[in-house]
Amino acid sequence: MSENLITKTTVWAMEIVGQYIKEGDTVIDATMGNGHDTLALAKLVGPKGSVIAFDVQPQALDNTRTLLESEGVTLCDAAREHGVRLILDTNANLRQYVGGSGVAAVLFNLGYLPGGDKSVTTTKEETMTAVSAALDVVKPGGLVCAVLYSGHEQGAEEKAALLEWAKELSSKEYHVAYISMWNQKKCPPEILLITKK
Ligand SMILES: C[S@@+](CC[C@H](N)C(=O)[O-])C[C@H]1O[C@@H](n2cnc3c(N)ncnc32)[C@H](O)[C@@H]1O
Repeated sequence: MSENLITKTTVWAMEIVGQYIKEGDTVIDATMGNGHDTLALAKLVGPKGSVIAFDVQPQALDNTRTLLESEGVTLCDAAREHGVRLILDTNANLRQYVGGSGVAAVLFNLGYLPGGDKSVTTTKEETMTAVSAALDVVKPGGLVCAVLYSGHEQGAEEKAALLEWAKELSSKEYHVAYISMWNQKKCPPEILLITKK
């Protein structure tokens, strides 16, 4: 093991997500930000797979494009079958961009763009819509993973709404897990995991 996983929540989340992805799969990065998760997902699905990545900020698409191009990752548009597609739209609309066969995994890394405008953050309303849509498009056996940040007001509301909703999901249809950094101060990131049976 190269990382101490319980000290690096986003790395831990990606380790878990990686267990649900094989080469050639289609996956969604619901919050592309600076593209680190998009790049990791692109490596997991390989050249025959697809990553559909969303953000509402042009800066996020620019940063992600620069990162992916520096790593030699193929970018594609709607007409191309494989590669990474960067979409300037809210993840609440993700259903519109997914074909009939569904996706293996959907990752949300909530909050605001690191190094960007902190006033542009994921919101309870849009995230709830997007996570519900993610459950619709994920294949049976697939995973929806959300990294939660409750250290700011909107993040705390978003986390509370997500956890309350996820607790009530039918145990006949879904398995839900919640990973919390139990002894850490200052609202550390946490992980919500939902798999469809
Ligand atoms: C914590 S960052 C994501 C980090 C990113 N995954 C990475 O690897 O760098 C959260 C991102 O969500 C974006 N965001 C906010 N609301 C959104 C929405 N409704 N749909 C898609 N992205 C959104 C923000 O613009 C921000 O870039």
